[in-house]
Amino acid sequence: MSIDIAVVPVAGRGTRLLPATKSQPKEMLPVGRKPVVQYVVEELAKSEIRRLLFITDSRKTQIENHFDEDGELIDFLRRTGREEQLADLEFERQKMEYFYTRQRRQLGLGHAVLCAKPLIGDQPFVVALGDSIIGLHAESDIVRRMIRHFEATGAEAVVAFEQVPARDVVQYGIAQTPTPDAETFELTDVVEKPAVGEAPSTLAVAARYVFGPSIFDYLEQTPPGKGGEIQLTDAMRLMLKDGRTAYGLRLHSGERRFDIGNFDSYFRAFFEFALSDPRYGESLREYIKTILANPKLGS
Ligand code: G1P
Repeated sequence: MSIDIAVVPVAGRGTRLLPATKSQPKEMLPVGRKPVVQYVVEELAKSEIRRLLFITDSRKTQIENHFDEDGELIDFLRRTGREEQLADLEFERQKMEYFYTRQRRQLGLGHAVLCAKPLIGDQPFVVALGDSIIGLHAESDIVRRMIRHFEATGAEAVVAFEQVPARDVVQYGIAQTPTPDAETFELTDVVEKPAVGEAPSTLAVAARYVFGPSIFDYLEQTPPGKGGEIQLTDAMRLMLKDGRTAYGLRLHSGERRFDIGNFDSYFRAFFEFALSDPRYGESLREYIKTILANPKLGS
């Protein structure tokens, strides 16, 4: 059977988005009409993921509530003649089983993934970061392509990468590969958030991974790294040093990564999604034109 299980870490504090994230998970911030994490789940469902394990924490219960079926709300919409709005709740019925476990101590992304070990056990799995949308309106099958590559090559890891401007390498895990221009490339190393000038390339890890279960062994041996946290990138590094094979797959040009980790990229994502919304995009476009044409409003 092909890989159908994904781990979605959502336990991060979202400090770069305060005060918006003081009592609300960053994964629940709306981008256009949907919260970020709904796009992530819909993308995974399109890539035939059927079981989803959230790595969560005490501040994130809204995420669990969001994916519950809300019979009372459905009844209310029916009773009050708002049937057409039922379509907005269709995601509740998508083919997905949800599981939740808590990261009980905030020790980093690598540690969050390690929290999945008792449930994942000895099977390959996907990791999809809950604060990143791939492609406008999550129109991407990158995970499906990664799974296919993983299964065809028998690699221990396949990771999605995106070309970033040289100044941005400090924000990401960066690939080292002999063939950085290829669409699919073998990884020789990955470095977490290197300094500009020390980065082995400008190919940045783009929030989607496929791993064999050996990643758990490497995570268990990974000491705290950048920011004093146990980094997933460092565990991949150990895996590569150990002679295991891992590949990078580039996102296609229409598959940009929307990072909902800071206000700059959050605002941009919100605008792009809202402007391309089939229901509201056109009138928003007109409204923005008016604002920009009126220096008093636009400044
Ligand atoms: C994490 C990873 C980093 C990766 C990034 C985006 O960083 O540690 O390697 O490039 O996600 O996928 P964070 O955004 O949590 O700082």
